Amino acid sequence: MYVVGKEEIKAIEEVVLSKKYFRYLGANQESITNACEKDWNHYLHSSFSLLTTSGTNALVVGMAAFGIGPGDEIIIPSYTFVATASAIMQVGAIPIIANIDETLTLDLEDVKEKISPKTKAIVAVHMDGLICDLDGLKQLCEEKQILLVEDAAQACGGTYKGDFVGTIGAFGGFSFNVDKVISCGEGGLLVIKDKKYEKQFLQSLVTHDTACQYGQTLKEKLSDLPSFFGLSTRLNNINAAMLKVQLERLPHILRELRKTKKELVQYAKDCGHEVLLGHDLEGDIGTVLHLKASDPLAAIDFSKKIIDLGIKAGPPFLRPAHACWQWFEAMEKDHYYVKGLNPYRLTDKDYSYKKQDFLPTVKVLSETIRVELNFLENKNLKEQFKAILKG
Ligand SMILES: Cc1ncc(COP(=O)(O)O)c(C=O)c1O
Repeated sequence: MYVVGKEEIKAIEEVVLSKKYFRYLGANQESITNACEKDWNHYLHSSFSLLTTSGTNALVVGMAAFGIGPGDEIIIPSYTFVATASAIMQVGAIPIIANIDETLTLDLEDVKEKISPKTKAIVAVHMDGLICDLDGLKQLCEEKQILLVEDAAQACGGTYKGDFVGTIGAFGGFSFNVDKVISCGEGGLLVIKDKKYEKQFLQSLVTHDTACQYGQTLKEKLSDLPSFFGLSTRLNNINAAMLKVQLERLPHILRELRKTKKELVQYAKDCGHEVLLGHDLEGDIGTVLHLKASDPLAAIDFSKKIIDLGIKAGPPFLRPAHACWQWFEAMEKDHYYVKGLNPYRLTDKDYSYKKQDFLPTVKVLSETIRVELNFLENKNLKEQFKAILKG
């Protein structure tokens, strides 16, 4: 899917020859990583951007900076990549899973059911570029005085009612690794739009680069923060150089993807298919089309025809790490990379997960045909796919 060219090679070459690979925030020097963050702020109309080594780490650093930790419950959708849950556990908090509905994003009614006095945040995940009901979730968060967080790893450049996703909640996270709309190999971005969260942003700088508290450049700015050890999740200048060029390409890539998706949504409907959409088709990034099948077997049969064309397709149910029951085992008391730090050992409440609690999700995911729209470089495929839609 990636759209890349000589510009990326030139940008990387310049960094390699400059021998300035490492962006250390404590050093008083301009870097391509700083410049790339500025570009993201400009593009997203955001106040603060921080590049990290991955989307997971962008979420971890954001959660830590916003004070999420042991004992806190964080609501996430049943359909998301495992990283949404793992980022929460890495700060010691407990993921609480809510069902999705036919938008393949959080079911607002189920989210309401899952709120408890321990709920600290809701993570809206814009899966497959589909946009969540951010008005509904934001209103709920305001009523309950909890944080709205956006996992926009799969929806870079997506918008909701004209505003960029990732900038609507208190903070948002993006990913630039495999299968993303733009990539730099590995990388993530933490975005905070509201200037009132400057302190949290500063906290996130130290969390992602412990040493920056000891350097001269940020010393004054960070002087109000207590001294603490953080992580080492810095993006380097080589990845940032590639990402900077990729960001320049993003508007064009999105224009093409959206045009194709809108055409196919209409075509599929005209052929009698039901299409599953998120809460803002205009803002959807157009990477994936979701068709509704009459039952799981029909979903598999129809997927096979699409796969035969060389297009990635299938019920999301079968994806290896995206349905919550695939990670239940990793959410048990005895399973963790440091056993004593397992978040389920840091709370007196007992949690258990059962697939039966997610039957609405099972139904939606098994009756959906998820079609990846990688037609940017192969227009013939689109016509062949349309022929299958026509039947
Ligand atoms: C929904 C979602 N959240 C978080 C992530 C984590 O991003 P990364 O793999 O860059 O850590 C991903 C990555 O695929 C994702 O799809």
